[in-house]
Amino acid sequence: MKKVIFLPSAFAVCMVLALSFCKKVEITDPSPDNQAIVQKYLALDVSNVPNYAAPVFPVPYGPNIQATDNAPSINRVTDAGAALGRVLFYDKNLSRNNTIACNSCHLQEKGFSDDRTFSRGIEGELTGAHSMRLANANFYTGERMFWNKRAVDLEDQVTQPIKDPIEMGFDAAHGGMDALLQKMQGLEYYPALFEETFGSREITEEKMKRALAQFVRSMVSTGSKFDQGFTAVFNPGAPGAGNGAPFPNYTQQENRGKQLFILGPPQGVACAACHTLPTFALAQNSLSNGLDAGETIIFKSPSLKNLAATGPYMHDGRFQTLEEVIEHYNSGVQNGPALDNRLRIPPGQPNAGQPLRLNLSADDKAALAAFLRTLTDDALLVDEKFATPFR
Ligand code: HEC
Ligand code: HEC
Repeated sequence: MKKVIFLPSAFAVCMVLALSFCKKVEITDPSPDNQAIVQKYLALDVSNVPNYAAPVFPVPYGPNIQATDNAPSINRVTDAGAALGRVLFYDKNLSRNNTIACNSCHLQEKGFSDDRTFSRGIEGELTGAHSMRLANANFYTGERMFWNKRAVDLEDQVTQPIKDPIEMGFDAAHGGMDALLQKMQGLEYYPALFEETFGSREITEEKMKRALAQFVRSMVSTGSKFDQGFTAVFNPGAPGAGNGAPFPNYTQQENRGKQLFILGPPQGVACAACHTLPTFALAQNSLSNGLDAGETIIFKSPSLKNLAATGPYMHDGRFQTLEEVIEHYNSGVQNGPALDNRLRIPPGQPNAGQPLRLNLSADDKAALAAFLRTLTDDALLVDEKFATPFR
């Protein structure tokens, strides 16, 4: 049986703009042939893919949390789209010499990052930056991707590693995306999967972008000790929805670290002014954090969720431990045009505008580190639906 449906949001856009690029999306029940072909290669039942589109959020996230994510209305997460994205994410065939997949540098058990300072691409050459954790990338409302924000959004970002000469090697000198699309057309499971997802066996970069971006956006992190504690004390009427109350599942030290992270001076150091609760995605208006004197580039940070799953930290992986990160904020912030005002001495005080010095005690530094370790989402790091589907 064949049903012709409209994606609701795409439909609304078509109604308003009457643009010709808004096409009907045909969804067919999985044909037995496609199903059999896919199952030869993949532990994936195309007639019964896992739930990616509607994750359950704990109450502190509020009922409208999904409306605040950075998915464009024409590419909201669907179960079928994310399931295809998962296959693409784990497929080494997407690299020129069949050795590297997205997960080679974004390992699930390492918070979808890499413990190497720089990751290895197809010929063993190193990337120019440290790999980024991917969970909650959907909640960065600045949308732009990569440490230096050079990709305009996730759809723009996700096929760049494929075309990168070091990472996956389908650069212009090696035939570009056209060479890859031809290769994929010859891999039996892709025409079948694209037909199940997009209603046609044709593989395009556009469809790959949509599917990969959906898979990355479906990696939401809601199962950390922080999430459980916040849910226990959640109080919609209180400031910060009650996040200031001690969490019952925290040690005294973790609660102290939480206070330091969230509150402004004098009780705290206001990390949360940039690394926002409860997703720990970076605030859209954050500037840089003063790693180098004279810095002009405005960097972003991935969500701090799962950061204890592996170091090193920062765009160049310069800090091996959370303690080194905390010492940076405590005593090492450098002045420069891109330094955010939140990390400067406020106006009206001696040395206004100079980098802040937090002067934290050893106990407070240890408490902050303990708090950061509560952001690990152990369930996400082993969740089957984010693991490789390849047999
Ligand atoms: C060879 C290692 C490597 C491979 C392969 C790789 N990545 Fe990455 N990824 C990185 C590095 C390094 C960065 C940070 C690069 C930078 O900012 O310059 C990054 C950044 C990202 C980001 C940006 C996250 C953010 O919050 O801004 C996303 C999303 C991402 N990668 C997804 C993917 C996908 C999807 C694939 C597969 C198509 C992939 N990566 C393949 C190493 C890799
Ligand atoms: C002005 C906004 C701002 C404030 C305030 C801030 N940060 Fe950051 N943070 C950033 C930016 C931007 C980055 C990315 C820097 C880079 O790599 O270039 C970052 C990176 C990090 C990282 C590394 C993330 C990674 O994936 O490697 C950690 C950990 C971190 N911050 C913790 C903290 C803590 C703890 C505090 C409070 C003491 C804090 N931050 C305060 C903006 C801020």
